[in-house]
Amino acid sequence: MTHPRARVALHPDFRVGPIDRRLFGSFVEHLGRAVYTGIYEPGHATADEHGFRRDVADLTRELGVTMLRYPGGNFVSNYRWEDGVGPVSDRKPFLDLAWRTVEPNLVGTDEFLQWAEREGFEPMMAVNLGTRGVEAAAALVEYCNGEAGTRWADLRIAHGRTEPYGVHLWCLGNEMDGPWQIGHKDAHEYGKLAAEAGKAMKLVDPSISLVVCGSSSMQMDTFGEWEQTVLSYTYDVVDHVSMHAYYEELDGDRASFLGSGTAMDRFIDRVVASADAVGARRRSDKKITISFDEWNVWYLESRFPGETNLPVQRDAPRIIEDVYSALDAVVVGDLLVTLLNHADRVPVAALAQLVNVIAPIMTEPGGEAWRQPTFHPFATTARLAQGEALDVRVASPTTTTKRHGEVPLVTAAATHDPETGALALFLTNRSAEPVEVDVEHLGLGVELTEGWRMVADHEAAVEGPAHARKVVDACWSAVDLAVDVASSSTGRSGSRTTTVLLAPESWTALAGTVRTA
Ligand code: AHR
Repeated sequence: MTHPRARVALHPDFRVGPIDRRLFGSFVEHLGRAVYTGIYEPGHATADEHGFRRDVADLTRELGVTMLRYPGGNFVSNYRWEDGVGPVSDRKPFLDLAWRTVEPNLVGTDEFLQWAEREGFEPMMAVNLGTRGVEAAAALVEYCNGEAGTRWADLRIAHGRTEPYGVHLWCLGNEMDGPWQIGHKDAHEYGKLAAEAGKAMKLVDPSISLVVCGSSSMQMDTFGEWEQTVLSYTYDVVDHVSMHAYYEELDGDRASFLGSGTAMDRFIDRVVASADAVGARRRSDKKITISFDEWNVWYLESRFPGETNLPVQRDAPRIIEDVYSALDAVVVGDLLVTLLNHADRVPVAALAQLVNVIAPIMTEPGGEAWRQPTFHPFATTARLAQGEALDVRVASPTTTTKRHGEVPLVTAAATHDPETGALALFLTNRSAEPVEVDVEHLGLGVELTEGWRMVADHEAAVEGPAHARKVVDACWSAVDLAVDVASSSTGRSGSRTTTVLLAPESWTALAGTVRTA
């Protein structure tokens, strides 16, 4: 039987750029059960001596997460970091207005940073530019990174931590363009504040990198204008501009949902163009890069911030606990394809979020921790995508979707590690039919050693570990290299073209080595 065909061409000499490991970041916000009964649950059977769940830390490492953004999100825009440091018995709960939840302040800056350090995750901290400003932001940098002998560094030392944490990445607030944000500002107000806060923060520690808030989505009325205005104030002081995007299947429109990676691709191109336009006007050689510090599938109706009619919640409420299907996992895999293809301009990204809240890892209080289907494409990409992203050329049939217009049916990204020769290829088939893909290695031999595949089904996502396991058992499997991958002439070893049969609505990772001789 003949299937639609696509063609992918790649060669290790044609590169997008090195893959920054921070591309595989995630996000822990004081929201719902992300912190309490997520990463932290004293008394849990796996809790370490500090009260952090070992099972969650182990799954986070297995997920391949390199970096964690903290403490928000919308939460940070009304957070007083000073309330979350010092002896826990002196800390007072506060009413977080972003999520109308009582924050007990049991976990704060020191607990989080020490956990991240013990577990080997790079922290990315956000400062509050909603209800607070320059002074509190600079003080937090000093608290985290300052040497002994000044007020805030000495406070950290008095709290038992002598060595500076050396936090390198800092977000200048969160989604400040969003009317739901506590202390929301227009682009001029925010741009001026971010420039001054960033200046002060870098005066405390010149080695840090700063992320200025871009638009909270491409759908914002102010999109584009916001980036240009904010960057016109902050271009010289910041290093990255943030992007946030969440995708969901709306009204049963699978084709548009499966095309989300193309929407993300266009979003990145537009933000890069906006940033470069500001740079061009300034005749600057500096390039602002992107921190895509919130991305995922999110069925947004599960709770949107700023809903004042919701009752105040206590004790780590179950909010935004999206349950994911195999289709969602295929889309997550495809969004990673897009991120890899922009490795030159997107060095930092965070899957939002890590645990319980729109997350690949779920937990039960006092119970087990498990992987959602979305865990697998992320973990596999983080593990196999090593070295450099290649500039792959894809010739694919297209389809016209309601939300994104024309999108390719097959997408691809590839990576190559010049040190080891490791090659990985990531392919998505968005079509409801199988597609055959001819991968041309432009004269190079490739030996494939492993492959993994997530195939979407039509099952509704059902809560709980048993269902997540059922979905994974049914939809996530090793690729049979002998059956689904064929080589053109000389056998799989040493062949010049590899033909891969992609299942309908699937995401595939193939890995092996390049023979350069
Ligand atoms: O990740 C959940 C929320 O989404 C974050 O708090 C906010 O930044 C975004 O709107």
